[in-house]
Amino acid sequence: MKRVLGIIGSPRKMGNCELTVKEIAARLPEPAELSMVRLVEKDIRPCKACYRCLMGDCPIQDDFGMVLDAIASADGVIVAAPVYLLGAHSSLQRFLDRGLQFWKRLDDLTGKPAVGVALAGVMDGEGASLLGVENFLRAMGMAVKGRAVIHAALPGEALLSEEGRAAAARLANALFSQESPPAESPSCTECGGTYFEFRGGGRVFCLLCGSGGTVSSDGEGIRLSTKPPAHSWRGPAARKAHGEWLIGMKEKYLRERERLKEVARGYAGGNFI
Ligand SMILES: Cc1cc2nc3c(=O)[nH]c(=O)nc-3n(C[C@H](O)[C@H](O)[C@H](O)COP(=O)(O)O)c2cc1C
Repeated sequence: MKRVLGIIGSPRKMGNCELTVKEIAARLPEPAELSMVRLVEKDIRPCKACYRCLMGDCPIQDDFGMVLDAIASADGVIVAAPVYLLGAHSSLQRFLDRGLQFWKRLDDLTGKPAVGVALAGVMDGEGASLLGVENFLRAMGMAVKGRAVIHAALPGEALLSEEGRAAAARLANALFSQESPPAESPSCTECGGTYFEFRGGGRVFCLLCGSGGTVSSDGEGIRLSTKPPAHSWRGPAARKAHGEWLIGMKEKYLRERERLKEVARGYAGGNFI
């Protein structure tokens, strides 16, 4: 039996995120063993930017490691986060902020099937939340098999709406499907993402992978053409190379520390509240 980890990014017990995770799990074509984690209940402290995890162990003793172990040992992942002020709940980013440690777990994480949901209480209120949810999964190298925004405000509304039930059914079918998710159009030709910043003159920038390119219209619809970013950490080979680059940056810092401190010296002090 497949083991599925549901990651809940909401503080609300039995809220729309929890119910959606359970509904997706219940609709999986084959029965699965579901375990869940409520990220906000875990002691996950901010990254201290010491970079020690690149060479050894993270000095912070908290729940990050056990949550990462649970993700690594699951066969598939469902993540659901509420939209707060147009973004995905900060518990997702708080976990991601410790993600320099992902590079030591590439074999356990890369390609793991996952689906993501953002729960928005207001019509058109989702803002950048789905980008946050998808980035959460992709930052760990998971294979995003499906994603959805469900509009639901009061706890339980996600299961009352046709939109919520249909999304749960679609994501349940997609999670362990051997087929690739259908390409959305227009989408980033590098990562398949659909989140862009328009930079004038027809230029676009993919917010999910950093690819840049152009958008044009050929009469039949919009065409998007993107080139890989200057420095990528998407895709298995690029992720491994990025881990090595980070270690190189740590070594560079140790070599250049005195020169860098000299630059900073004139800016020491200041009033902090
Ligand atoms: C602090 C706060 C901020 C919110 N901001 C938004 C928002 O920007 N857009 C939106 O559509 N819904 C917003 N909501 C509504 C929730 O996203 C919505 O009720 C969701 O279903 C909650 O999921 P849950 O029941 O799993 O907690 C907000 C809720 C809270 C508590």
